[in-house]
Amino acid sequence: MPSIMQEKKRLLTGLQPSGTLHIGNYFGALKPFIDLYDSYDSYLMVVDYHALTTMRNPEQLQENIRNIVKDYLAAGVDSEKITLFKQSDIAQHTELAWIFECLVTVPVLMQAHSYKDKVAKGLEANAGLFNYPMLMAADILLYDTQVVPVGEDQRQHIEYAREAANKFNNAFGKTFTAPTEHIIDGVGVVPGTDGKKMSKSYGNTIPLFGTKDEISKAVMGIVTDSFGGRPENVYAIHTLFRPESELDALYEEKEGNYKALKEVLIEDMEMLVAPMRERRDGITDEQIREVLASGAEKARIYAEAKMQDVKNKIGVTV
Ligand code: ADP
Ligand code: TRP
Repeated sequence: MPSIMQEKKRLLTGLQPSGTLHIGNYFGALKPFIDLYDSYDSYLMVVDYHALTTMRNPEQLQENIRNIVKDYLAAGVDSEKITLFKQSDIAQHTELAWIFECLVTVPVLMQAHSYKDKVAKGLEANAGLFNYPMLMAADILLYDTQVVPVGEDQRQHIEYAREAANKFNNAFGKTFTAPTEHIIDGVGVVPGTDGKKMSKSYGNTIPLFGTKDEISKAVMGIVTDSFGGRPENVYAIHTLFRPESELDALYEEKEGNYKALKEVLIEDMEMLVAPMRERRDGITDEQIREVLASGAEKARIYAEAKMQDVKNKIGVTV
């Protein structure tokens, strides 16, 4: 059984290759993963089948996949130390999702905030979007994951993974481990340039790997609706880059001078991003293919064993 072989606890997260990574993705999900991965048996995915719920352009999807792997590596992920792979390379994810779809009810899935929000925003209500939490449950449970670093908006999705695990365990005997979300206080919801949650779909992002000009443009566009006092939206984003104790003095010194404060924020971002950007420029497409191939090889070992156990339990092996 795979779980007996496991020594360290397992950490797993994934991001959709559906656009350009922004600082909300970095501080909400990727950095927490990077900070923790050494102490765990760690898995990092590119969840490309999830992106298919909204994407219809194959060239764009391919480019986004290559870009997100570059982002992972440039941000500090060492692919030798973790299992870095692409969801679509491991067929067991979609296979297990189907089994969960046969266990979790439609009324329970209908409560998903994320589904309702996306449809309210005008996204097509396709069945994949509706079943999205079951594929995510499979991503997590297939590897007996204990800890899942994500932003606040994914909290309910981890609950769905626990629901799928419970349903299966109750029906067929203890098989899956209930995962826990890892959401960092104060970082679970990084605000965007308009003060609302930063999100690709709101057009309010600051790109993580933008050029200095792109980052400057986004920062200069942060809405400052305070009247002479502290520009709260700028300050909130700035806390990601400098301790509040330092910021308080700075914001007092430059009170009311929004432009100067934004310029300091740009420089602080640049200090973090410039070395990562340089590293990113040196990563080739060939390297990416190699990293993904070797990650898939590692992930497959566990996924195949776990899926065989599932098949034995549900009664499809004779
Ligand atoms: P988006 O909302 O931009 O489409 P995703 O849904 O692809 O972002 O999110 C990828 C990961 O980044 C998830 O773990 C999500 O919780 C996290 N995340 C996204 N936006 C934020 C944010 N504004 N603050 C904190 N974490 C975020
Ligand atoms: N739903 C997540 C998001 O939109 C992406 C995701 C898919 C994921 N499978 C996962 C995150 C498994 C953590 C673990 O950001």
